[in-house]
Amino acid sequence: MDLGLTGRTVVVTGGASNIGRAISLGFAAEGARVLIADIDLERARATAAEASGHMAVFRTDVTSWDSARAMAGYAVQRLGGIDVLVNCAGWTVDRLFVEKPREEWEKEIAIDMWGFINCTRAVLDHMIERKRGRIVSVASDAGRIGEWREAVYSGTKAGVIAMSKAIAKEVGKHGITLNVVCPGFVPGPRETSGAESVWAGDQGDQFTPEVLEKVARSYPLRRLGRAEDMAPAVLFLASDQASYITGQTLSVSGGYTMV
Ligand SMILES: NC(=O)c1ccc[n+]([C@@H]2O[C@H](COP(=O)([O-])OP(=O)(O)OC[C@H]3O[C@@H](n4cnc5c(N)ncnc54)[C@H](O)[C@@H]3O)[C@@H](O)[C@H]2O)c1
Repeated sequence: MDLGLTGRTVVVTGGASNIGRAISLGFAAEGARVLIADIDLERARATAAEASGHMAVFRTDVTSWDSARAMAGYAVQRLGGIDVLVNCAGWTVDRLFVEKPREEWEKEIAIDMWGFINCTRAVLDHMIERKRGRIVSVASDAGRIGEWREAVYSGTKAGVIAMSKAIAKEVGKHGITLNVVCPGFVPGPRETSGAESVWAGDQGDQFTPEVLEKVARSYPLRRLGRAEDMAPAVLFLASDQASYITGQTLSVSGGYTMV
């Protein structure tokens, strides 16, 4: 199936690391032009360098409306337009709700919820004017089922799912679709900010290989997700092949949730 993404212009927030990196490289491999919009410029540049010339980078703090607007303006100028926005920037620390400090709730809400709102709003005028656009957001199975140790994060991701549906109803008449991809557990490089939290466990637990193996056994497909598993679903939903799909949520999680 030809996804028809050659020459398409794509912004990937959080595109520097792990899942966002795999998505960015996936689009580049299809011949799309990608702007990585990430707060970690150094890592964004390293990812862009892997795609020899198909990617640009722009330092973006998705929690800031001004930064999101600047990113959208830069993308239109640098890429000549925005065909696709992928909201992938995210952050969490696994911790029991009653043990979680307020600063961590606020950071999760700022990045995982406000990040979606700021970046989505920042590109919409442009997409409405062009009468086309694809917005694919990376939420989480936590947002579908409510995950223990991830109460506030679950809420922000549920918010992304609900807001995507609501906005999809408003902008469908302009040829714009919004869909959501929900990963399960995708271990990432320990040193990166978000991935660190994914690995952090609670009460000092660490995800040792033995623990990871045990977790994997709870997945029907008996393995944990890899960043590369997420990209095909995002690319498909961003393509013309998905032009009649909007407001939908797709778990890519080895069957961890079936809702
Ligand atoms: N890894 C998992 O197990 C998992 C599971 C479910 C959902 N997710 C979601 O997938 C997405 C990617 O997760 P990941 O594991 O690849 O995380 P990651 O930490 O490896 O990557 C997150 C990226 O977001 C960037 N970022 C953080 N704060 C930002 C900000 N304020 N502005 C712009 N960029 C910012 C980071 O620099 C990093 O490049 C997130 O939305 C996450 O919630 C991850």
